[in-house]
Amino acid sequence: MQEQFQTLSKIISGRRTIKPAQMNGATIENSTIEKLIALADWAPTHGRTEPWRFYIWGGEKVAVFCKDHADMKRAANTELTEEAYNNLVHMGDKSSHVLIAVIRRGDLPKIPAFEETAATAAAIQNLLLGAESLGIAAYWGTGGSVLQPEMKSYLKLREEDHVIGALYLGYSDEPVKEGMRKTPLAEKMIWM
Ligand SMILES: Cc1cc2nc3c(=O)[nH]c(=O)nc-3n(C[C@H](O)[C@H](O)[C@H](O)COP(=O)(O)O)c2cc1C
Repeated sequence: MQEQFQTLSKIISGRRTIKPAQMNGATIENSTIEKLIALADWAPTHGRTEPWRFYIWGGEKVAVFCKDHADMKRAANTELTEEAYNNLVHMGDKSSHVLIAVIRRGDLPKIPAFEETAATAAAIQNLLLGAESLGIAAYWGTGGSVLQPEMKSYLKLREEDHVIGALYLGYSDEPVKEGMRKTPLAEKMIWM
């Protein structure tokens, strides 16, 4: 039991955000992506609504997504600088896959929408921890148009569904940076 806790603790506390620019272009097998999503699928979910959905771009399709993302951002913001546009175009150049994680609202009205968000975030964390255990670098980002209406239209989402983030996955050769938390842990434990 102690051994399992130590293994899990190492994975949880060792997981770090690794940005796409720090990735090295190496490819993750599609089957591995599917295994990570299978882990995501074990997240807790109120009413068994299982609201998480993952839209996946792999291989050459990563560049297609990134160009589409840059174009939709430029269409929504005519003042977007050329530099910001190009950053989005090239954001996935060194990533293996991009996933857009979506909260698909279930059809149980008694489940508040925020619980669907919570369940989807738990699913993403499962995926990120699975990635960490396999030495896969991951970045959860909400920049660009990720949370904007144009992304919802791009994915043909229903009004009641929402994007929660973009996940860039790949491998990295760079040294992992030290984890950092600003608020002391003691402040987050309110013993009653
Ligand atoms: C919902 C969510 C959205 C995030 N969006 C961004 C983002 O747009 N840009 C960014 O640099 N990091 C983003 N992050 C990553 C955080 O910056 C990162 O998790 C935080 O710095 C803590 O670092 P760690 O993940 O290595 O512990 C996001 C994380 C979450 C959970």
